Amino acid sequence: MKIVKYPHPALRTPVKPVTTIDKEIVLAAGRMLELMYASDGLGLAAPQVALDAQLLVMNFAGDPAVKDQEFVAINPQILEEKGAVSDREGCLSFPGLYQNVRRFKTVRVRAYDLKGEPYELICHDLPARVWQHEIDHLAGVLFIDKMGSLGRSRSEKDLEKFVADFEKDKKKGHLPPGLEPKL
Ligand code: NI
Repeated sequence: MKIVKYPHPALRTPVKPVTTIDKEIVLAAGRMLELMYASDGLGLAAPQVALDAQLLVMNFAGDPAVKDQEFVAINPQILEEKGAVSDREGCLSFPGLYQNVRRFKTVRVRAYDLKGEPYELICHDLPARVWQHEIDHLAGVLFIDKMGSLGRSRSEKDLEKFVADFEKDKKKGHLPPGLEPKL
């Protein structure tokens, strides 16, 4: 399992809800947490590892030792959203790219944990931002879609570089990881 980078097609492919929490899902969640921590991320969504499942992992403290901030979310949904706040945001599939993105300040979310138990949370600011960013991933929506025109134009060069690197890898015969498994 590897984190795929923009413009890998898996990032634009909406994923299916999880119907059975089997061993495969439990293992995938564990590997995604490892990858997220190894990359100093706050969240990682299944499409970012080319996995066709509505599955997220997050840690709002970004610290594996802070377990009460660690969440696995299956089939997550935003039930309520309030307020607005603009802040710097990045994504593990766009290494080095950070821009301001406007998000709801507060969200109420519902998801299932790895035991299949539903839970609900009300989050503000950074955790609310992470939930919105990761849930977007499940629908193939990326943070570049949510940037204002200024952030978007400031990102142009980086995006061109990501596309060029991706094409270079393809020419070298390095098929982007994740094109083989089911998307
Ligand atoms: Ni992301």
